[in-house]
Amino acid sequence: GTNASDTDKPTLNVVTETSFMPFSYLDKGEIVGFDIDLLDAVMKEAGYEYKLDNVSWDSMLLSVEEGNADLAIAGITVNEDRKQSYDFSSPYFESTHKIVFREGTDITSGEDIKDIKVGVQGGTTGEAAVEKILGKNHENISKYESNTLTLMSLQSGDVEAAVTDNVVADAYVANNPESGLEMIADPETFESEFYGMLLPKDSEIETDIDAALQAIIDNGTYSEIYEKWFEV
Ligand code: ARG
Repeated sequence: GTNASDTDKPTLNVVTETSFMPFSYLDKGEIVGFDIDLLDAVMKEAGYEYKLDNVSWDSMLLSVEEGNADLAIAGITVNEDRKQSYDFSSPYFESTHKIVFREGTDITSGEDIKDIKVGVQGGTTGEAAVEKILGKNHENISKYESNTLTLMSLQSGDVEAAVTDNVVADAYVANNPESGLEMIADPETFESEFYGMLLPKDSEIETDIDAALQAIIDNGTYSEIYEKWFEV
């Protein structure tokens, strides 16, 4: 129950952005995904009640930065840039980027997107990775508000390639077999990164969240969630 005498822990405001299947997405209006199951397990373990809201990528980041949300989870990469303005939980998932393109496009490495139109979700590490190849704010880079719009821009022909997180690219291509999309990885070009839960600077829940994350890794819950979402 939520009787305040049971616990002095506040109900947390959690935000996510649901254009990121299989980590965070909508299934018949319900917010689901690996991240959502992980969040629930961490919160139960840590003994927090929480309320989850689905917002845009930009407002998700802003609400955590301003402390209006206590935590965000949405396949968010831990990096030095973001550490200036946020805290992160311990990392919970390793990721890299992939290039997705229409069948027949001649792309075999990261360098091959240098002279073509490329779509990315604005404000993501995918955008940074593409800017490293084409140049910052290059006119051939189209920035979309969500990852879904980014991938759809390929099918509509607005761009010739899209760069997104590897597991998300895998899921999209697998779930859209009629779309005629292909993808490549290029470990020479795209570095490995890690997802973490995003917290406001000096977050008071960070220690509890990290302890709970470690506990569910140690007790097998993390593996159960992993196996539910990723065939092993
Ligand atoms: N991992 C990348 C980043 O942190 C992309 C995350 C996009 N997440 C999303 N829910 N659309 O920049």
